[in-house]
Amino acid sequence: MRDGVTLGSPLVLAVPNRDWENWSKVMDPWSVDPVAAVKRRLTAPRPGHADLAGALKYGHTSDLRNVLERASARETAARVAAGAVCKQLLARCGVQIRSGVLALGGIELLDGPPAFSDLERVDDSSPLRTVEPSREAEIVAMVDRAKHAGETLGGVVGVAARGVPPGLGSYVRWEERLDGLIAQAVMAVQAVKAVAIGAGLEAAGLPGSAAHDPILPGEAGLRRGSNRAGGIEGGVSNGEEIVVRAFMKPIATLREPLPSVNLATGEAAAAAYERSDVTAVPACGVIVEAAVAFVLARAVLDKFGGDHVDDTLAAIEAYRRRLGKHGPAWFVAP
Ligand SMILES: Cc1cc2nc3c(=O)[nH]c(=O)nc-3n(C[C@H](O)[C@H](O)[C@H](O)COP(=O)(O)O)c2cc1C
Repeated sequence: MRDGVTLGSPLVLAVPNRDWENWSKVMDPWSVDPVAAVKRRLTAPRPGHADLAGALKYGHTSDLRNVLERASARETAARVAAGAVCKQLLARCGVQIRSGVLALGGIELLDGPPAFSDLERVDDSSPLRTVEPSREAEIVAMVDRAKHAGETLGGVVGVAARGVPPGLGSYVRWEERLDGLIAQAVMAVQAVKAVAIGAGLEAAGLPGSAAHDPILPGEAGLRRGSNRAGGIEGGVSNGEEIVVRAFMKPIATLREPLPSVNLATGEAAAAAYERSDVTAVPACGVIVEAAVAFVLARAVLDKFGGDHVDDTLAAIEAYRRRLGKHGPAWFVAP
């Protein structure tokens, strides 16, 4: 960057890890403290983590740290930083994106997919970032109870993007379908085990008449009677809010560990434990928001292109005019 604008070369973001210094001696076998390095080796993989699968893949059976330090979700700090840049580009194109916690540890705060307006209730300064700030004390108490019991908790996060132009993605090429790209990016966030777009799983149990969104005429453009599709039909954005939910499993590091095997001796052993969170669902929401922003920003550039944001905006404007009254009302008559 120079004078506040990008130069066209890759934008580099660095996120220093303040804990790094404390670990350099432990991680480095040639360090001045080899005893500490050997003592901190981990050999009993945690069920649910990358430990065992990663050790088998690369032969790291003598120290699982070679796997777990890289598999850690700390890596997602980079995705969040890149996502923040994507959000700036999206904002210039009129796209807003928000996230929040919909359920935590079995406490459901919202039934079904969120609308953008639900996520506007989220207090970004709250450690929980839920759609029901008035219930956060109840959830904090539950997390505390889980902590004392040595348990961990999963949950559901939601993301919604408003102002997304119709036509992003593809119904022609499967690898460019917007729902497929979003699902890949969101599922690739550590511990996310399911992704729903719009009504998602619930749609599978509904009759067709209750699962789809009526198309309604309007003076200035078309409107939809509902948004069960979550803003994507046929792999292409349809102009409605893009709505994504991610379902996160509980953290795999347990203070009361599950059975495992010491890979060094082959004997039964409790799975490794070290400092770990009880839940990371609120952080997961921030990461998933960044992941969706990344996919949407790329999809905007794929459709509208441009080396300068003004070129992108001009292409959006020309498209808006071409759609005329066939486009979504909010898009054709801003
Ligand atoms: C924001 C965030 C923080 C996490 N923090 C921890 C943690 O402190 N301890 C832990 O064992 N797992 C943590 N995880 C989960 C692991 O990264 C995850 O369980 C592991 O990658 C295996 O899940 P996978 O099979 O989906 O990859 C966290 C995940 C996320 C998204």
